Amino acid sequence: MFTIVEKEELASSVHRMRVEAPLVAVKAQPGQFIILIIDEKGERVPFTLSDWNKDDGTVEFVFIEVGRTTRALAQLKEGDNLAHLIGPLGRPSHIDSFGHVVCIVSGYGIAGMVPTIKALKDKGNKITTILQVPDQKNLFGEEKLKEISDELILAAGGDGGFTNPTALKPLRKLVERHPKEPIDRVIAMASFCLMKLCCDITRPKEIPTYVHLAPLMVDGTGMCGACRCVVEGKNRFACVHGPEFNGHLVQGWDVLMARRCTYADEIIGQQSFQCSSCSQW
Ligand SMILES: Cc1cc2nc3c(=O)[nH]c(=O)nc-3n(C[C@H](O)[C@H](O)[C@H](O)COP(=O)(O)OP(=O)(O)OC[C@H]3O[C@@H](n4cnc5c(N)ncnc54)[C@H](O)[C@@H]3O)c2cc1C
Ligand code: FES
Repeated sequence: MFTIVEKEELASSVHRMRVEAPLVAVKAQPGQFIILIIDEKGERVPFTLSDWNKDDGTVEFVFIEVGRTTRALAQLKEGDNLAHLIGPLGRPSHIDSFGHVVCIVSGYGIAGMVPTIKALKDKGNKITTILQVPDQKNLFGEEKLKEISDELILAAGGDGGFTNPTALKPLRKLVERHPKEPIDRVIAMASFCLMKLCCDITRPKEIPTYVHLAPLMVDGTGMCGACRCVVEGKNRFACVHGPEFNGHLVQGWDVLMARRCTYADEIIGQQSFQCSSCSQW
């Protein structure tokens, strides 16, 4: 059994959960995720690791209430048990000494990117983080990101949908100053729309840009094919080949967005965290 040892509400419908999972904690690396099942009738749902502790054997993730399972998860309390939790899954984020790294986060990426930013900082990179939130009410993670980044830019005030996500404005400004003030890498863990548009901005200047793809996943081990995406003309499974991919080589963003929205019909528009175009958060 996987006991919930901490649970905290970070913002409206956003929760941080810490669970006992010693075998996961001992192997976890930045950018990886877990899949959990609440009870014997539950569905498999993936969440990105936002922290872990090898010593006390716990792992942490932040989740947003968007559907049946995440709402049920929000009802659980400290001391309750989850039926299953597997991981760490996926390839870790590529960590190296790049120079100046710009990180773009929205939705669960605000917490999910924290281990990657910390590891990049430990490697001596200069980190500029752009944090996109719809409004002040839904702001979380600001203090943590400020603490681990050299500069934090808050892009608040509506996601702007596919045409104008707020995080793009500061990114455009930074990219305009490149290469005079160089950017060596951009990493985004955000909605599909925002990540695609970030790639469009950085492509002309050939700034390496990496995105965390979160298509629908079922088994998380490369067997079912649910999470397939096309990267550089090849079929790739986000759960085993990703979730981090070179964004300039990702093809078929429109298909990825459409498939991710498949089960979102009844909740789309109700969640201020959701991108109004691709419904991801
Ligand atoms: C690699 C990865 C990492 C993720 N990390 C986080 C995280 O750290 N925090 C967080 O809040 N969310 C994360 N998600 C999304 C999270 O898995 C979904 O929000 C969750 O599965 C929704 O389940 P539900 O039953 O509440 O909603 P449903 O009503 O089933 O669906 C609501 C929405 O969630 C999407 N969804 C449903 N099931 C899955 C699934 N198995 N895989 C992917 N998307 C799904 C649907 O397309 C739909 O748009 C991640 C997804 C992936 C693939
Ligand atoms: S979730 Fe089944 S192949 Fe990736």
